Amino acid sequence: MCGIVGYVGRSEAAPILLDGLRRLEYRGYDSAGVAIVNGEHVETRKCAGRIAELGKLMAEKPPTGTYGISHTRWATHGKPTDQNAHPHFDASGKLALVHNGVIENYQALKDQLLQDGDDNFTSETDTEVLAHLIGKLYDTSVAEAANAGSNGNASAQLPNNKGRLVEAVRTALRQVIGTYGIALVHRDIPDFLVGARRGSPLVLGVGKEENFLASDVSAIVAYTRDAVYLNDFDVVAVERDKFEISSVAGQAGNYQLSKVEFTDADIKKGDYPHYMLKEIFEQADSVRDAMRGRLSPEECTAKLGGLNMTPAQLRDVGRVVLTGCGTALHAAMIGEYSIEQLAQIPTEVEYASEFRHRNTPMTRDTLVFAISQSGETADTLGALRESRRKGYRTLGICNNVASTIARESDGGVYMHAGPEIGVAATKSFTSQVAILTAIGLLLGRMRHLSTSEGTRIIEALEALPSQIEDVLKLSDQIKAIAKKYASVNGMLFFGRQFNFPVALEAALKMKEITYLFAEGHPSAELKHGIIALVRPDLPSVFIAPDDAVFSKNLNNIEQVRARKGPVIAITSGTGADRLAKIADDIVSIPIVPDYVSPILTVIPLQLLAYHLAVELGRDVDKPRNLAKSVTVE
Ligand code: F6R
Repeated sequence: MCGIVGYVGRSEAAPILLDGLRRLEYRGYDSAGVAIVNGEHVETRKCAGRIAELGKLMAEKPPTGTYGISHTRWATHGKPTDQNAHPHFDASGKLALVHNGVIENYQALKDQLLQDGDDNFTSETDTEVLAHLIGKLYDTSVAEAANAGSNGNASAQLPNNKGRLVEAVRTALRQVIGTYGIALVHRDIPDFLVGARRGSPLVLGVGKEENFLASDVSAIVAYTRDAVYLNDFDVVAVERDKFEISSVAGQAGNYQLSKVEFTDADIKKGDYPHYMLKEIFEQADSVRDAMRGRLSPEECTAKLGGLNMTPAQLRDVGRVVLTGCGTALHAAMIGEYSIEQLAQIPTEVEYASEFRHRNTPMTRDTLVFAISQSGETADTLGALRESRRKGYRTLGICNNVASTIARESDGGVYMHAGPEIGVAATKSFTSQVAILTAIGLLLGRMRHLSTSEGTRIIEALEALPSQIEDVLKLSDQIKAIAKKYASVNGMLFFGRQFNFPVALEAALKMKEITYLFAEGHPSAELKHGIIALVRPDLPSVFIAPDDAVFSKNLNNIEQVRARKGPVIAITSGTGADRLAKIADDIVSIPIVPDYVSPILTVIPLQLLAYHLAVELGRDVDKPRNLAKSVTVE
């Protein structure tokens, strides 16, 4: 999704802005641009396409100056063209603005500007309307002050035009319906940036004689690890050696300086050809980190202090709702099985985008979990807010500790998976499943689970990292399978019980990075319609570990074989022997209890999608049309 980087300091802004944009590249975009102020000029370079193209433009005629803003755009209003790329200017051409989010009432604002005689619009974007509005308010305020011969200013601390610009931003934003993270510069106000946010993240990076604005801290972590995560309705005025945070309403703002959890080294690819492969291979560590300090062998339970709930409150939970989008939703579906099996608490999974807009009947004792790797997904954030507005205890399961969901929830559990850069979620999924299992254990031990059952679950969770290492050793075998099926047009995925959501997740991975047709279903649904698709050039992947439903899966595999459909099986224990004559390809993984099985079964399927995508020459880390953090509805 769109990215913002802003800089004010003593160094040349261009390389810093370009480097920051490159670090945001993984989030998905279709055009990019910069605006750097150099004395009398605002130097702009922007184009549709990749940052490499922008880099070429900047190399041809390098923009110079020590403060500026930059942007990667993921088109919402208007096609991905050079004209629509940000930054956008006001009518005077002196104010440049970049914007993430959607201004829902941009047409009404534009109509008003047109009526007032401002018809100098050059793009189809909502952003340009905001630039014009702020510019008009600022110019009016400067003109009024000149007429009055006054030196009066609108901000208590900021003198003259700086204060006027901040006030113009506030006045404009009070008229906006929608979401925004913005950064702007004005030619007449040297060494000065203004940022603001509502619904789209914005972070201030605090350096030594230099400060930064970014939509994601990974863009600036190479320069500073001191950050202020802005809150909704914050407006920040940024200079080289100071900053001032206030609210859109004009009140002085509170802020907290935080240390960024990770370093620049953590967001490097290292020796891996792709972030996705690196992150798949990090899963032994990330699952270990998700469990670290959270399992108590003495008390045979999980310790999740971040939930901020007393034992009595935990015991009183009568219903659980798990909400999220995409991969996080698939993890939630596994969580439903675990919490119901381990704690016997009725649990429901709701697409965040549906939950937030419908009137789900809730009971007083409902506990809601919003699950999100980024912690910024607009729909999940909307669901969290709706749930909290209605007064339900709403917890987060997030990877990004400084994210809006993490900050707005009543408590929760951090994944500690480290930055996930590959657009296709991998390690965040296994961490989410591990955490949901720990939640099931905790809630179960408050109820009927015995100490010996608790111990068995802890042992199963603690055994996972070394079992994940074993599964990762199968990468070459899976690569060979991917090569064998490189010419197929699609794949079907089937699983039962805990592995039904894994079938959905495997199909999602396959679609996202190979662009092949893929569907996931409960195995038994095959005969209710899907079997019509079975044919020799459409492989079916069965997730069929050696568990209580293995023989049921076997029946379904036979049904596919009878119709000459190729079968790839992910199995465990005696499964490999029993499938030897039926499946075309067999991947055998360690045998584990059903509630942790998805953490192992998903890995060969992540690898299958990865190797097939590489074989097909796809851009694995930046698949077409996709964005890492989906901050629009
Ligand atoms: C799939 C994927 C997406 C995300 C979804 C939610 O590989 O990455 O489906 O899982 O957009 O994102 P988060 O977890 O950041 O809320």
